[in-house]
Amino acid sequence: MTVPSGPDVVDQEAPAPADPLALAATWLPSAADGPGPTMTLSTVGLDGYPAARTVLLSLFDGERLHFHTDARSRKVAELAALPRAAVTLHWPEDARQLVVVGDVAAVTDREARLAYLARSRYLQVLAWVNDHAAAADTPDRRREVWAAFDRERAGTDLQPPSTWAGFALTPMRMVFWRGATDAASNRVAYERRTDGSWSTASWPG
Ligand SMILES: Cc1cc2nc3c(=O)[nH]c(=O)nc-3n(C[C@H](O)[C@H](O)[C@H](O)COP(=O)(O)O)c2cc1C
Repeated sequence: MTVPSGPDVVDQEAPAPADPLALAATWLPSAADGPGPTMTLSTVGLDGYPAARTVLLSLFDGERLHFHTDARSRKVAELAALPRAAVTLHWPEDARQLVVVGDVAAVTDREARLAYLARSRYLQVLAWVNDHAAAADTPDRRREVWAAFDRERAGTDLQPPSTWAGFALTPMRMVFWRGATDAASNRVAYERRTDGSWSTASWPG
């Protein structure tokens, strides 16, 4: 893997801050930047095997990582059965990876609605038409359904469908990975103690 030199090498020299949420705030975009980046969301499948897929990080609110999806999706059934997940974010250009493991809970209706309104028109329409029926349709039929929906709603602000579902992951473990060109990569793992403070450890790898 190609690892850029420069800022990351300097970063490696800095002592790990005590608060991983403050560190995460310097890695993740602020609310003003809108949705993104993408992250791999891993859950425990209903069959006991891991399940993973890409989702947008809708928001990091300083405490929790928010994501949004369809209430009928597999991930939502999995989270209903076991509300725990991991997310993996990777910034290849910065030689950084962040893995966050924790507990997942539904966000408030207001939070979910604001996240919907912050999405592009394409993603807003997608939330309305991306259902089981569309999955079974031919490509031509999918385009027709899309065009008809768009035509009927032209010029109107879309509101979230009832199937729009928002969740937030509260970290119990956060692992920050930084690459370097002249030294081993560096991982700092934080784990939340029962009193809410964080333990810190350097991990190889
Ligand atoms: C770049 C990218 C971004 C995506 N963002 C989302 C998202 O924010 N929410 C979502 O529900 N699905 C998103 N998807 C689709 C998911 O990866 C997945 O296919 C879908 O949510 C169904 O997953 P499930 O069956 O495991 O629940 C995205 C896919 C890609 C490739």
